[in-house]
Amino acid sequence: MFELERSDVTNPDEVATAEKPDLPSLGLGQQITEDWVAHGRDWTKPGFRAVAIQRFGVWRMKLEPKLLRAPFSLLYRMLYRKIRNTYGIDLPYTVQLGRRVIIEHQNAIIIHGYSAIGDDSVIRQGVTLGNRYLDRPFEAPKLGKRVNVGAGAKILGNLTLGDGANVGANAVVLRDVPAGATAVGLPAKIINASSLDNAENR
Ligand SMILES: CC(C)(COP(=O)(O)OP(=O)(O)OC[C@H]1O[C@@H](n2cnc3c(N)ncnc32)[C@H](O)[C@@H]1OP(=O)(O)O)[C@@H](O)C(=O)NCCC(=O)NCCS
Repeated sequence: MFELERSDVTNPDEVATAEKPDLPSLGLGQQITEDWVAHGRDWTKPGFRAVAIQRFGVWRMKLEPKLLRAPFSLLYRMLYRKIRNTYGIDLPYTVQLGRRVIIEHQNAIIIHGYSAIGDDSVIRQGVTLGNRYLDRPFEAPKLGKRVNVGAGAKILGNLTLGDGANVGANAVVLRDVPAGATAVGLPAKIINASSLDNAENR
């Protein structure tokens, strides 16, 4: 079941059989309104548009029967591709996206379909949340709440970033980042977690 020929699974059609994301308790309009506020009340921002379409993609999965859902799914797939191809933001509906997640700027933003991004986190241009190994295509990072990901960062594999973690610009994160800690560099190292064993961090 878990064999894919491609290394990424960001296409929603490819992950449709995967575990469904938690459906948010807020209504679609309420979610998109708070996303709009989080994006500076600017509906023209690509990041806001990408998040709004992702919310729509999740919302339409609640529709029953499937026949009723079909036109919404068609619309979602068109809009998903439009966002991806126009702004370079690949954010499938299968991502477990928290509330008020901000996508700052655009281009080369690739979010694996099995990723999770907690409430109030920030993702910037050039960020990849992806699998690390070709033969483990379903492994993806899980970000806690208020995680701040710098421009160009790559977070790869089955990792957890704790609440309030920071990732420096252009970091390549290959291991867990504790809550509140900051990871920088290539490969990323923790620079400010007092609880971390320094030997482990070398
Ligand atoms: C990591 C970051 C959040 C700063 O965290 P901080 O805890 O305040 O870290 P400091 O600025 O005190 O720097 C601590 C050390 O990490 C280094 N460092 C900071 N950011 C770094 C980065 N992105 N890559 C590599 N090293 C970095 C500093 O040079 C410093 O090293 P030193 O102790 O040898 O002098 C910030 O530098 C960063 O990268 N922010 C991303 C912002 C961004 O993407 N902006 C784009 C907007 S469009």
